[in-house]
Amino acid sequence: MGTLSVSDAPKLYGELASWFHLLSWPADYTEEAEFARSLLASPNSPPSPTLLELGSGGGNNASHLKAHFKMTLTDVSEGMLELSRNLNPECEHLRGDMKSLRLGSVFDAVFIHDAIMYMTKEADLRSALETARVHCKEGGIALFMPDVIRETFVSLTTHGGHDGTAGDGRSIRYIEWTFDPDPSDTTYTVDFAYLLRDGRGPVRVVQDTHVFGLFPRNTWLRLLSDAGFDGRSVTDPWGREVFVGRAVGRHSR
Ligand SMILES: C[S@@+](CC[C@H](N)C(=O)[O-])C[C@H]1O[C@@H](n2cnc3c(N)ncnc32)[C@H](O)[C@@H]1O
Repeated sequence: MGTLSVSDAPKLYGELASWFHLLSWPADYTEEAEFARSLLASPNSPPSPTLLELGSGGGNNASHLKAHFKMTLTDVSEGMLELSRNLNPECEHLRGDMKSLRLGSVFDAVFIHDAIMYMTKEADLRSALETARVHCKEGGIALFMPDVIRETFVSLTTHGGHDGTAGDGRSIRYIEWTFDPDPSDTTYTVDFAYLLRDGRGPVRVVQDTHVFGLFPRNTWLRLLSDAGFDGRSVTDPWGREVFVGRAVGRHSR
């Protein structure tokens, strides 16, 4: 089924989507969402600016940003959209691939958080930035928050997880291992081992490989310019480099 297929996608966004909020809790996003808000806010915006998020996932950032923006949330995974609808019923939710989505409308601002990491080829990153530009009004702001760029990549191992609070007896613990098997290409892998506890039954272990894109700063800035953004990189409070673009010039793709 073409670009909307999630069959090759990580299990986390398919069969395990209902577990996502135990791995990544909305409350964990308070500071990151505030940082994003500060970059997305523009003195020229109307009182309730519109914001399109591409790859909005479980809607964790949106659960904070929706107090400041009228949000449209899009994702390629129906399971993730369903989670986000429950968390953010006041937001519009639409299914779509950030490489090809065309809603036929423009927004005051456009946001792609960590979902941009799933753009593993330069052509895909280019397409996602073009999608952002097509939906961003002239003079509007787009914010892209990759986890890492080529210059800041380091191999890491982290762990985490949460216990469910909804009385369903579900808990997750996970280990996350970041590794770059081939530093000459534009990808690296993040392997997860999830330990899933459902009630009092035995713990189930699931391994899940995520393939992420890795691009140098110059590639980011060139593609932003090509897409019709006046782009710059900004270092966030956690030392990551993110990219802010102001939509300039005419754009009709
Ligand atoms: C880590 S989650 C995003 C979580 C999000 N930052 C939040 O605040 O909840 C990554 C999301 O990217 C989505 N995704 C991956 N490739 C995509 C694509 N080509 N177009 C749209 N969404 C995509 C996945 O379905 C997944 O929901």
